[in-house]
Amino acid sequence: MSDSHQSIPPSPPWQFPALDIETNPHDYSDVDSGFGASIARTENSYSVTTGSGIHPYVYENGRRYHIYREGVYILPNDVEEIERLDHFHGIFLALLDGKLYIAPLGQGGHRMRRVLDIGTGTGAWAIEMAEEFPDARVIGNDLSRIQPPWAPKNCEFEIDDVESDWTYPENHFDFIHLRSLSGCFKDWDMVLRRCYVHTAPGGYIEFQDYDGHLKSGSGAIPDGAVTRYWGLVSDAASSTGRTFQVASTIEGRLKAAGFIDITVRKEMWPMGPWPKDGRMKEIGRLGKMGLRSAFCAFASALLTRVLGWDKAQVEKLCQEALEEVNGGAGKFYVTAYYVCGRKPS
Ligand SMILES: C[S@@+](CC[C@H](N)C(=O)[O-])C[C@H]1O[C@@H](n2cnc3c(N)ncnc32)[C@H](O)[C@@H]1O
Repeated sequence: MSDSHQSIPPSPPWQFPALDIETNPHDYSDVDSGFGASIARTENSYSVTTGSGIHPYVYENGRRYHIYREGVYILPNDVEEIERLDHFHGIFLALLDGKLYIAPLGQGGHRMRRVLDIGTGTGAWAIEMAEEFPDARVIGNDLSRIQPPWAPKNCEFEIDDVESDWTYPENHFDFIHLRSLSGCFKDWDMVLRRCYVHTAPGGYIEFQDYDGHLKSGSGAIPDGAVTRYWGLVSDAASSTGRTFQVASTIEGRLKAAGFIDITVRKEMWPMGPWPKDGRMKEIGRLGKMGLRSAFCAFASALLTRVLGWDKAQVEKLCQEALEEVNGGAGKFYVTAYYVCGRKPS
């Protein structure tokens, strides 16, 4: 038998075709996207406009923000914030023992055909609702396109500003959900009145959020970095007309909008594993894990845009607040509110 072995010369490793290399040092700077479409704004911020599938965003102090209705919403929408929102989604659920809502959906003849999730964020809640109610059509709307492309068929996302006029039909939704939206709207009564108009008779609304009041499991709140942090951030938000102190007002606002059968459930949201109870300790652990990115997300734009701080000052304050929590001082918590109501039939 002859030796038919032939040696195959190795092919060179696969590479992308060569791109021209930018030699101008300016084009590596922070104020030019390199897509030839950026607009320099201020010393600290710039925007990237569309082109080749790149979504338009504003970048500021190392964080990414929405550009549609730019400046209206004060938190970032970058990967770090997406991870924080998904983490907080887990905490909202853990406090309800895994449930997505407290409203008596689908009971007593109530049908679930159309659901609206206002300010859906990453769409995690909307996606899970669509899975739980496969016959319902779930719409999640938001200023930012940060939802995944793999949502179930009965879940869709829209880029929209709910403070602008709504195009949805009246008496339409069987359930409207608003979660973690304190600090988003100037006029909550207007938003809730609209929710009322667009809820189907007999349909439900549900608000979920933690209140903007820091409390301590050991009584008095220590006069330290966390208190200072929250005072500055909270006052800065209020000065823009979009206060974080919303949750405790929602029961009254829903009644004023016309909703009936209001149910309020309050849960402790510990910011550390300080409670002795096993379940609460676990939730506190989750609460603590989310704090690093939460502190920075809430403070970054508010303290730079409103108070004129620089990035280093903001990071220092966030670090001090984080160290105080990590040191176990304070036994901090906030109160999570789950409030639902029904539109009369
Ligand atoms: C803190 S996130 C909460 C996201 C989601 N509801 C959750 O619980 O994970 C607030 C979201 O509201 C959106 N938002 C703020 N103002 C809005 C507006 N006027 N219209 C629509 N969405 C808005 C933001 O873009 C952001 O994604």
